[in-house]
Amino acid sequence: MSPADSPLFSTTREGDLTLDDHQAIAAMLARAFASYDHWYAGARSWAGMQPELRVVARRDDVVVAHAGLRRQFVTVGDTDLLVTAVGMVAVSPSSQGTGVGGELLRQVDAALTSLDSGFGLLETGDEVQGFYRRGGWLPVEGLTAHYTAFSADGAGVLVTQDHGWLLHEGTLTVADWPEGELHWNGQMV
Ligand SMILES: CC(C)(COP(=O)(O)OP(=O)(O)OC[C@H]1O[C@@H](n2cnc3c(N)ncnc32)[C@H](O)[C@@H]1OP(=O)(O)O)[C@@H](O)C(=O)NCCC(=O)NCCS
Repeated sequence: MSPADSPLFSTTREGDLTLDDHQAIAAMLARAFASYDHWYAGARSWAGMQPELRVVARRDDVVVAHAGLRRQFVTVGDTDLLVTAVGMVAVSPSSQGTGVGGELLRQVDAALTSLDSGFGLLETGDEVQGFYRRGGWLPVEGLTAHYTAFSADGAGVLVTQDHGWLLHEGTLTVADWPEGELHWNGQMV
């Protein structure tokens, strides 16, 4: 991707998004997560916990990439920990494989720094692990975590997930990660 082809990235607080922004983000998320497009109907630009910060890339007025971030207290073992949940990370299908996702993760790094939490945290399937690891995310080996599944499909249900967790060092390092199971006590972004 040459600099001329690079989309324009911006990082925006949730409260500064307009209705048009929500609709444009939701439309891109529906294209990128086609099996879940019913989640991103109209202006509903989130699926679980609503983010507090958005990283958005646009070409002209069209959203081509997005990530959502939200600080949340979670419990790991006996420790309450402020983390930043990162989710809805996606590049529009027509722009995938061209470097936009890599740039998106660099912009997420900067957003994480601005939020000043202990760690960035997300969970993802084996097929995308390599993408995040290339972007500096680290596996949390052996972590079992409990969270409430996204509610857009219906009532919240407690889910236990024992693989696929990745962290990004923030104000704390991987050596500071506490022992024990993680309880989100709610939904993730
Ligand atoms: C995952 C996704 C965001 C990647 O975006 P992208 O624009 O295609 O990624 P890029 O082309 O910028 O690739 C960045 C780097 O990650 C690597 N990469 C991309 N997708 C990868 C994958 N699925 N597995 C392993 N590595 C991957 C690229 O090879 C590249 O490596 P390099 O820097 O050494 O060249 C995009 O494919 C997508 O939106 N998929 C659908 C939604 C999704 O699955 N989101 C993640 C949910 S947690």
